[in-house]
Amino acid sequence: MTNARINGLRSVELGVHDLKVSAEFYRKVWALDEVAAEGDTIHLRGTGRDHHVVTLRERPRAALLGVHFSAPDRATVDALHAKAKALGAKVASAPAMLESSSGGGYGFRLSTPEGHPICISADVTAHASAIDDRSRPTKLTHVVLNSADVPAQTEFFLDVLGFKWSDSTVMMDFVRCCSDHHSVAFARGNGPSLNHMAYEMPNVDGLMRGAGRLRKSGYEIMWGVGRHGPGNNIFSYFVEPNGFVAEYTTEVDQVDDTYVPHEAKWWQEQNLFPCRWNMAGVPSELARKAMGGELVEEENVRCEQIMARALSR
Ligand SMILES: [Fe+2]
Repeated sequence: MTNARINGLRSVELGVHDLKVSAEFYRKVWALDEVAAEGDTIHLRGTGRDHHVVTLRERPRAALLGVHFSAPDRATVDALHAKAKALGAKVASAPAMLESSSGGGYGFRLSTPEGHPICISADVTAHASAIDDRSRPTKLTHVVLNSADVPAQTEFFLDVLGFKWSDSTVMMDFVRCCSDHHSVAFARGNGPSLNHMAYEMPNVDGLMRGAGRLRKSGYEIMWGVGRHGPGNNIFSYFVEPNGFVAEYTTEVDQVDDTYVPHEAKWWQEQNLFPCRWNMAGVPSELARKAMGGELVEEENVRCEQIMARALSR
């Protein structure tokens, strides 16, 4: 199967310092529902039918543990595994049945050339129905990964995983695996790390209601509300308890094979930065630090120092 390709983004898997604190944020503030809990792990769903959109695992260091993608069937999983191996990708193991608490299915883990951890699976259980609440996230719609070698990551996603190139800017390469303009983007910088994860809200009213819930809970909007250039999506960015950047977004462009991608020079000439509405302005220094993964690392160091002090007593 030479045209084997990923066909969707499922979820993001995060190592977190305090499972209880993180789960409380994702339940009460980010407005997801707990699906399954087992040991040091909790899976939470959005209002869409995906089994879960985020997995939290308690770990000594906060980190991105996985970006989970869907394949249409097991044969595609096998074909992608064979293709990845043949092209020298770092593949953790052969495809196998996955843990039932995470919805089961059949898949395998691998790394991008730079080391971003990803998982590809098929036949994961979906919920029988969606939940009707526009103030809550429906699904994970994109992740942005920091990379010191964006061309190599982009080439890997296009050539090995079957993504399509959507656009490039001076900051990022955008690639897609479904009708969303982008499911993954690579930010030029230091890698590998998570720049941010974006959750889809049903509409603008829902995004504003969600953003209001965050503010009322003490989480200020870090960047936004605004409308991006590539993808045309409305954005609002927040920092969650571990220092990861989480986005509520809506109205991302729906595209097909007729979409014409553009290079960075074209986007620069369009004068659509940093916000089509000229509302959001450029990201603050804090926002750039957060998206560069520095807040997560600072929090890791702080936690390690607290633990070292406790152990020395
Ligand atoms: Fe985003």
